Amino acid sequence: MSGSRIAVLASGGGTNLQALIDACTSGALDATIVEVVADRMCGALRRAEEAGIAALFLPVAHRRDAAERAAHDVLLAESLAVMQPDLVVLAGWMLLLGPVMLQRFAGRTINVHPALLPEDGGETVETSCGRLPAIRGAHAVRDALMLGLPVTGATVHVVTEDLDAGPVILREEAPILPGDDETTLHERIKSIEHVLLPRAVSKVLAARQTAVASEKGAW
Ligand code: GRF
Repeated sequence: MSGSRIAVLASGGGTNLQALIDACTSGALDATIVEVVADRMCGALRRAEEAGIAALFLPVAHRRDAAERAAHDVLLAESLAVMQPDLVVLAGWMLLLGPVMLQRFAGRTINVHPALLPEDGGETVETSCGRLPAIRGAHAVRDALMLGLPVTGATVHVVTEDLDAGPVILREEAPILPGDDETTLHERIKSIEHVLLPRAVSKVLAARQTAVASEKGAW
């Protein structure tokens, strides 16, 4: 085991999780993935098991049931806390985090989002093609196509209570090409995410270590 401890939450195929696993294995990222949690039986769970990482399946049967969501929020926070992660990474996690998770891991939960988001949490983002709408939510790839944007991209940001509006860690553009559909565009964005996410994790962990070192120095 080396470096910092990361927990990853995922709901999908897990290609971003795989990018993190590969970066840890190659040493490009000085960290260990201590747990993967999924709310669905998904590719991410299989990838975790294949890599020998503790994998927890924590489903929500009724997504709109407030009591069930609140219980899930507590269970998720408690199961993560046991693993003492330095950082929680949402890598294709499709559930909104509840207040217990947001509070327990405040400032150390990050998310990868398949669109360009602005630093100021505002409604537009500066791009190489001028100022464009910031696209938030679960259908960001489809929405970028529907709006006829010339460019979109990927953003890794800190998770706050405002959806896809926390401080930006890293962001990179992807062109939208003639003939693109949701699949081709999402694949192009994902290939960017696979590089961006390990770099963003590394950046956040380095900043945390510097902060911890200077706190220690103060004493
Ligand atoms: C990524 O595009 C991520 O930005 C979005 O969901 C997708 C997850 O892909 N939130 P994968 O499961 O990592 O392959």
